[in-house]
Amino acid sequence: MGLGGSWDSSPITKKDQIKAFDVINTALESNINFFDHADIYTLGKAEKVFGMFLKEHHHLRASIKIQSKAGIQLHEGALNSNRYNSSKNYIINQVEGILKRLQIDYLDVFLIHRPDPLTHPLEIAETFHILKENGLVKEFGVSNMSATQIDVFQQFSDVPIKYNQLQFSLGHSQLLHNEVFFNTENSVPFNNFGMLAYAQKHAVEIQTYGSLDKGLYGTGSLNSDLKNVADTRKLLNQLSEKYQTPIAALQLAWISKLPCKIVPIIGTTNLERIIQCAEFDQIDLSREDWYDLWTTSMGKRLP
Ligand SMILES: NC(=O)c1ccc[n+]([C@@H]2O[C@H](COP(=O)([O-])OP(=O)(O)OC[C@H]3O[C@@H](n4cnc5c(N)ncnc54)[C@H](OP(=O)(O)O)[C@@H]3O)[C@@H](O)[C@H]2O)c1
Repeated sequence: MGLGGSWDSSPITKKDQIKAFDVINTALESNINFFDHADIYTLGKAEKVFGMFLKEHHHLRASIKIQSKAGIQLHEGALNSNRYNSSKNYIINQVEGILKRLQIDYLDVFLIHRPDPLTHPLEIAETFHILKENGLVKEFGVSNMSATQIDVFQQFSDVPIKYNQLQFSLGHSQLLHNEVFFNTENSVPFNNFGMLAYAQKHAVEIQTYGSLDKGLYGTGSLNSDLKNVADTRKLLNQLSEKYQTPIAALQLAWISKLPCKIVPIIGTTNLERIIQCAEFDQIDLSREDWYDLWTTSMGKRLP
């Protein structure tokens, strides 16, 4: 999301290009081979700069997985406000633009970025069929959608939804709250009941964004001195010593311990942090430490 420069219409500079190439090369050298895009990221420049990289490295196409999303229209109309659009013509047009910017013939995965209440699931099903039949997309998924929304879509379509990209992390664990606290006073008004259970039942891969909590436990802009945040930062530092691993890797290990298909997406463009993140699957985070991290980050005990 952070590649290609700033979120405006200025062109990609040589510096932006060098930065993006360094990030992609570092990811590849760290055995990260899955890249998440969206048509809106840096207003198309993230895909464009990735396409510039691919043009110079054709041979990599078959060994990496490229995903993109569409369905959000930024700053539209007199109100200059964001809208969602999953209508057939719009999505097909966006996918064609994505492929052009990335300089590739097909996407491994395409996701509808956010739910558009005005598009009937049948229309999305038809769009997916067209994209698949024309060889433009291999697999499909959604983002920011509930189990119910996926279930309803599947009533209208035989194209399987294989992915759901959602915000989930130590500092934003609502998905888990809804599985565990659904009938207690601790339940939160976040309408995604049962997504983890649904994912297990239907083999939907959960991709987590905000996985590093945007630096909440480090020096990022969200850095906070709230007690639960400060306590979690302290515990992460202790566990980093105990497991001899970086905090970023621990954050991802915490996410990936859930027993469903779960893939953390990282948004860091810091080369050192990318390398650190790649250590996550070598950590055998204990059950006790997983629970201590969860309850500390929530700042409350379990019932
Ligand atoms: N589907 C959706 O609606 C949606 C929404 C948002 C994002 N996404 C996707 O998910 C990816 C990840 O999401 P994200 O970027 O929001 O979340 P993230 O990976 O939690 O956060 C990345 C940001 O946090 C900073 N950061 C992380 N750890 C830090 C630390 N210890 N100290 C200081 N800064 C730190 C990074 O800065 P540095 O670069 O300096 O490390 C970067 O700016 C995005 O790139 C995008 O592909 C999807």
